[in-house]
Order: sequence, then C-alpha cells, then structure tokens
Amino acid sequence: MTDPALDAEALRERAVASLVTARDRTTLLTSCVDGPDLTAQHSPLMSPLVWDLAHIGNQEEQWLLRAVAGHEAIRPEIDSLYDAFEHPRSERPKLPLLPPEEARRYAADVRGRALDVLERAAFHGTRLTEAGFAFGMIAQHEQQHDETMLITHQLRKGPQALTAPDPEPVPLFTGPAEVLVPGGPFTMGTSDEPWALDNERPAHRREVAPFRIDTTPVTNAAYQAFIEDGGYDEPRWWTAEGWAHVRRNSLTAPLFWRRDGRQWLRRRFGVTEVVPPDEPVLHVCWYEADAYARWAGRRLPTEAEWEKAARYDPAGDRSTRYPWGDADPGPEHANLGQRHLRPAPAGSYPAGESPLGVRQLIGDVWEWTASDFLPYPGFRAFPYKEYSEVFFGPEYKVLRGGSFAVDPVACRGTFRNWDLPVRRQIFSGFRTARSEDV
Ligand code: AVJ
Ligand code: FE
Repeated sequence: MTDPALDAEALRERAVASLVTARDRTTLLTSCVDGPDLTAQHSPLMSPLVWDLAHIGNQEEQWLLRAVAGHEAIRPEIDSLYDAFEHPRSERPKLPLLPPEEARRYAADVRGRALDVLERAAFHGTRLTEAGFAFGMIAQHEQQHDETMLITHQLRKGPQALTAPDPEPVPLFTGPAEVLVPGGPFTMGTSDEPWALDNERPAHRREVAPFRIDTTPVTNAAYQAFIEDGGYDEPRWWTAEGWAHVRRNSLTAPLFWRRDGRQWLRRRFGVTEVVPPDEPVLHVCWYEADAYARWAGRRLPTEAEWEKAARYDPAGDRSTRYPWGDADPGPEHANLGQRHLRPAPAGSYPAGESPLGVRQLIGDVWEWTASDFLPYPGFRAFPYKEYSEVFFGPEYKVLRGGSFAVDPVACRGTFRNWDLPVRRQIFSGFRTARSEDV
C-alpha cells in the first residue's frame, strides 16, 4: 500500500493540472475572437461564448467555493443568469450577461480562490471531496463547455479564428472491416473510477449476445455511397420519425456539406475544403446514422455492445478503463483534447485499439448508439439531479467514445454523452454492428 499522504499530493497535482489545462483551453477559445463576437449568438442552438465563460466560473463558484469550502456567494444576483435550466440557450443573448471583461475577471477571481481551497483540501471525509471528486467534476464541466464552445466556433460565420496541426496521415486502413465480440456477461459502468460522473455508476453485469462491430467509424467515403445511392430519398431506410425529419428539413447530406459538381465540399472552422474520403463522417444526426446502418444491412450498436467492444478484455475476463488498457490516454492512443480540429483517418491509432482489435473507439467522433439515455440499476443522482437525472428517458440517445474536441479528463470507456436524435451540430459520427448469426 502506498502512503496516503503521497496519494493526496498526487491527487492534488492531478486536480490542479486538470483545472489549469481546462482554463488554458477556455482562454484560447474566448480570446481568438473579439468582444462583439463573444456576445453574439452564432446559432439559436448555442449560447454566446461569453455566457459559457461566466457559467464555467459560476459552476466552479457553486461547487468548489460554496459547497466544498462553505464560502458566501461572490455575486448572488448572477446565479440565475447562468442557470442552464432557467434560461434556454435561445434566450441567453437577451439576458443582462456580464460583458467579456467582467466575465473574464469573475472566472479568474473564482479560480484564484478555488486553487486556494484545493491547496488545503482533504480528499476524504465527504462524498464530494473523496479522491478530489468535486475538483475533477469541475475540470470536466469546464472541458465539456470547451467542447460546446468549439461547436459554437464551427457554427460561427466569418474567417478562421482557430488553427491546429492536422493528424498524421496514415496508409489506407486495410484490416478486417468488422470484429466479432463474443457473447456473455461483462462489467458495464464503474464503481471505482474516482472522477466518473453519476450516470456511469454503479458497475453492474450485463449479458450481451455475440455481435460484430465495425473496426473503425463509418467514413465519409462510405457515407457518400449512401448519399449517391439515393439514401436520403428512400423512406425504407428511415424510421417514421426520421423520415418526417429529413423531409421537413430537406436534409440531403451531413451538416456543413455542400455539393460542388461531382464532389462534396465542407466548411470546417471557417475554411471550405473537399470532404476527405477516409475520415470518419462528422455532423450526422441519430436519424442519419440509423438510416445509413439500415441501408448497409446493419444496425447501430447498443450502448452495452459499444462498451463491451471498448472495455472487455477476454484474456483477463474483465473490463478495462480504456480500449488499450488502464493507462490514461496519451497522444499515441487517441485523437482527443482539440490537438487537432478534425477526426484522424479511419484506422489511425493502432496503439489505442481494443484487445479484440476495434479502433478509434475513444476520440475522433462521438458515436451514436441505438440506446436511449437511461439510468443504470442502482443509479443515484450525485451531486445534482440536473447533470443526468432530468435527462433520462426515451427522448435522448446515448453517444459514446468522445470526439477530437473532448479532453482526456472528460473521456473514459464508461463515459456517457447524450443528445436529441435530431442534433448534428455536435461532433457526432457512428459505427455499425450486426448480430452474429447463431
Ligand atoms: C453531457 C454534453 C450533454 O453540455 O448539456 C455541461 C454537459 N452539463 N453543463 C451538456 C454539461 C452541464 C452536457 N452533456
Ligand atoms: Fe454547464
């Protein structure tokens, strides 16, 4: 057993590093555009960037300063402005929000005090501080909004404001198209990952029938074949709701795509480019993913199938933290953390593959699953019902794995994301599966 004092110092360092990494990203995303751009609403689906900025600070104040350390509110009158449930996104630009300089000062003020709290924190005694959970939760919260803000950047009109190097080119993937995942029970979710959020808990056994799953996410080239085959004009590939949705909204291709003669172009962070054939398809809604799968004679994997493909290690008959094992994600494993502003080509990151040989489960694109967002048996909302519980039900579909825009701190083999089946401004793609004939 290691010295608990050393463990506490390691946790403290990890918490500081996670908060600092998140703030560096927030600063970049909110300093590369000017004031009017920060207060503008670039899409009714999104908040002005300056709302995200002060909301990040306000959540940090509520959980680290008030709940953990018992401080009084710094500015009690602003809580309601930054409460996501009081004001839907479409209303936020009309609120008397803190202007950019004030929002920056507020977030920085909260952060200074939070780091003082962290320096003295004991990582045991209460569920909120056990293993530094509240600090990890707040770092994840900020990173989730950093992904949200990157979505806002993608929706924003005007010239490029952000740049990043492209992923390494790789030879065209020529491995097997699908992998057999054996049937039988496996452990889904977690009870011992210290910073796992409430909806990932508790660990429980799940029976999964044998199935085959795509080795890589579905590529732009494969998705284009669906388009060229008239996929968007053929009701039999779509659910009734999906068909009504594509007709009503005249969908003919993923969001941000435009046809140019015989090729497809897309707009990505202010730049128009030819759609790269070997990259995972991005910006499709659940209905599009589901229709593609049916056209391909396949289906979306369930959430349990996805997690078994990602975590089940037949050698040890156990579930690992990530497809590659228990080590924290490194740049060799996955495309995470906004290092690149696009997915890497299908077949990238061989070091990140699962024991069964499935690639790119973590990073690149969020993957739609067939499943509704529901609690696991034994779920308990913690520390607040508005993170997960209020969203449980059949309206939301689960996405797994995380995109290039997700930081490692907010990404695990057990991490669950969810959204409405019509949403496609998110960094969403998918892979397909089929039941094993028995
Ligand atoms: C988990 C991505 C669905 O952005 O709505 C941020 C994360 N929750 N602030 C969202 C979240 C509260 C959440 N998602
Ligand atoms: Fe939030």
